[in-house]
Amino acid sequence: MVFRLRTAGRGCAAALALLAVVPAFCYDNGLGRTPPMGWNSWCTGTLLEPSVCNLVGNDPCSEGEVKAIADSLVANGMDKLGYEFLELDDCWSDTARDASGQLQADARKFPSGMASLADYVHARGLKLGLYTSVGDKTCKGDRPGSYGHYATDASTLAGWGVDMIKMDHCGAKGNGTFTDRQLYGEMSAALNATGRPVLFSLCSWGEQSVLEWGADVAQMYRIQMDHLPFFNLPTTASGVGYGQGTLQIINYVADIVPSRWTRTFGWLDPDFLMTRYGTMDFVASRTEYSFWSLWSAPLLVATDLRKLSADKRAILLNEEVIAINQDGSATSGDRIRPPPNVTGVDSQLWARPLANGDKAVILFNAGKRKGLGVAVAWAELGWAPADSVRVRDLWAKKDLGVFTAGFNATLDSHDVAMLRLTRQ
Ligand code: GLA
Repeated sequence: MVFRLRTAGRGCAAALALLAVVPAFCYDNGLGRTPPMGWNSWCTGTLLEPSVCNLVGNDPCSEGEVKAIADSLVANGMDKLGYEFLELDDCWSDTARDASGQLQADARKFPSGMASLADYVHARGLKLGLYTSVGDKTCKGDRPGSYGHYATDASTLAGWGVDMIKMDHCGAKGNGTFTDRQLYGEMSAALNATGRPVLFSLCSWGEQSVLEWGADVAQMYRIQMDHLPFFNLPTTASGVGYGQGTLQIINYVADIVPSRWTRTFGWLDPDFLMTRYGTMDFVASRTEYSFWSLWSAPLLVATDLRKLSADKRAILLNEEVIAINQDGSATSGDRIRPPPNVTGVDSQLWARPLANGDKAVILFNAGKRKGLGVAVAWAELGWAPADSVRVRDLWAKKDLGVFTAGFNATLDSHDVAMLRLTRQ
């Protein structure tokens, strides 16, 4: 287990008080106190430079494009809302290490080098993330992974001023005797040893019971295979090369009861947001963002920030929904109805407590029927039926009134009502 000695903040205060001089047991280097927010290159499919190195064959990993994304993030006001990390996924690196065995940037795409890009990003108040793999190849297959080089790579990347490392699960990992926990733990320790605060994003696709140990070594960890740009993509496959839609992720998260695992500096990562990408229409994208926010999941946008459509703005820039994601309660919303592991129920109620005593609620029509009534009774939230509760619609940004007993909404297929409830 890797422990970071915290120096400020709230996350481990109780442990510090109890243990006096003993370091607090949590992965706190100041980054990831609330769910990380930002942008990732891998599924940003609308950038221009043709290449084979990206989910859709366009490679956004060039210096000019990343700088333009940084500028756009700020110009869109997204930095003020908490979007902070610019994360370059697979393919930023050269296909070979340099003569001294260090990772090096692909010089055709990053002629000024990564330290220079980090400076550019930092000058705008943002943070830079880079990708590597726990095995000896990245998932694209033709670039070096970090296996056998954890300390060197941690030092190289931290030396460039990188603030976030995503570590994928591809490539050979020695003779197979090491567990994921050991391998990722070693990289975590190597990052710690650099002395630079780096957010560690662990991407082992949910394998080897990562829920039970992911938060011990990383501030965020992937809980399953890739989210592909579909709302509904039924599959039982797992691992790289496969993927699933938003609906499958929602079902999966319901069954693991996310509030059992979510904690400060230990955020469950359901993968990038697929806002208005592939078959994700406006309703699907809004539903996705609602659930990611309810779960305190990292909000990593995979879209071209240089030209945000009105649809994307409406979803990505809603400060009231983001406030749920970043709420100080640092917990997740669970599915209240139907209970976990019950399948085939379209009318769903999800809820979580908020730090000020309010509750965030999602009423969800998981099925294909249009105009489905979905209700919440105050008793389902632990409140008395006679309680007067103010209901605010977070997508409409509108108070709907004060209700006793409960509230119901009529929802189209795959749509949600996302509500903030305040007991009077
Ligand atoms: C895996 C990961 C993805 C992405 C690609 C890059 O599939 O799960 O998130 O990083 O590799 O090759």
